Amino acid sequence: MGGQRLHGSVRVTGAKNSVLKLMAAALLAQGTTTLTEVPDILDVEIMAELLRRLGCEVEHDSAGRLVRITVPEVLAHRADYDLVRRMRASICVLGPLLARCGAADVALPGGDNIGSRGLDMHIAGLRKLGAEVTNEHGYLIATSDQRLTGGSIWLDFPSVGATETLVMAAVTANGVTVIDNVAREPEIVDICQMLIDMGALIDGVGTSTLTIEGVSHLEPVVHRTVSDRIVAGTWAVAAAMTLGDITVLNSNPEHLQVALDKLLSAGAQISAVEDGFRVVMAGRPLAVDVVTLPYPGFPTDLQPQFIALNSIASGAALVTENLFESRFRFVQELVRLGADVRTDGHHALVRGRLQLSGAPVEATDIRAGAGLALAGLVATGCTTIYGVSHIDRGYAEFIPVLNELGAQVERIEAESLFT
Ligand code: UD1
Repeated sequence: MGGQRLHGSVRVTGAKNSVLKLMAAALLAQGTTTLTEVPDILDVEIMAELLRRLGCEVEHDSAGRLVRITVPEVLAHRADYDLVRRMRASICVLGPLLARCGAADVALPGGDNIGSRGLDMHIAGLRKLGAEVTNEHGYLIATSDQRLTGGSIWLDFPSVGATETLVMAAVTANGVTVIDNVAREPEIVDICQMLIDMGALIDGVGTSTLTIEGVSHLEPVVHRTVSDRIVAGTWAVAAAMTLGDITVLNSNPEHLQVALDKLLSAGAQISAVEDGFRVVMAGRPLAVDVVTLPYPGFPTDLQPQFIALNSIASGAALVTENLFESRFRFVQELVRLGADVRTDGHHALVRGRLQLSGAPVEATDIRAGAGLALAGLVATGCTTIYGVSHIDRGYAEFIPVLNELGAQVERIEAESLFT
């Protein structure tokens, strides 16, 4: 039910987009690695299952926000389609499996609801490190007769996934690897920091060039997952849209600089508090233009939330999506709530409306689901979001937290919708 002003504080846990890669990085060291601040989301369970099938013991203590992974000396090296199709991020076992086993068979994930999502840079980079990579029967088969060898790699685009694959492959390669034009996301810094603690030699962390001197052996560690900046940003937009007052804890506002700056332009007051930040909104937001770019640019994973904000703002905004070609697919759902949004290629023109009106809509991916939920918070009457399991993949306890902040949200099992 829309119309409530959200207020209170919310504590964010570790980032989904980091923890899944950290779990894969654990494969690089025999023994027990412990990750803390692990979010209680389905994707962590899927990754745990994948690691179990590779021969690891994985203990997931959701109450303690811990995952303990015990990696055996000898690993299996196949990631099956049934898991990869459920979670595209499964591809991140490719680099560490190749490094540890000299072979990796990973099902090709295909596209998803936000775009086609190529793997060419992962493959070209692994070849530069001496691997043979082929595509057979829907699987990416990577092999290397001997230890991978260091090389020079230039990425066409600062891809998050390709950077992670190549760093994980290079840390135990023979010799020095230089990777240029790498991604600089906080999640990349997080995995590099974990690898360094494990004994890897990586220089240039957080810059566009990584220099990696291969080592023969890595040790397991205890590592705290970096906080989820996208979840934090979603709560910040929730405060701005509902004329609310939300304090986001366990969050580093520096990781959200461009997005928070946009909220300031929209009229929010933002202040730093110990261990986080506070967003207060006094009046109707002003429309803000957004252009998604690799970090430190505006994150594509906050684009749907900002389209939702602009849909009730004063004025018109141009939103440009540069990363995923199908990310505007959810706009048609927002239009069902009365939003005035026109898309053309990778641009969306959003003309703010004074009011949205509740309706049934369908979430097609995690962030689209979050954007629709934000719109539902301000629409008149009742909004029903189908496919809410998408939201569960990225937001732990989303509905209880919303209700604690003063929203009126109820989860309904699909069968009871028809009784
Ligand atoms: C990760 C995040 C995702 C986020 C994205 C960009 C995870 C699980 N997902 O996705 O939430 O939106 O970063 O911040 O961490 N590309 C190629 N060839 C490649 C690799 C990528 O063409 O070899 C293209 C993709 O199709 C896409 C763009 O590059 O258009 C960006 O992809 P990338 O940065 O790799 O994103 P992901 O790692 O897939």
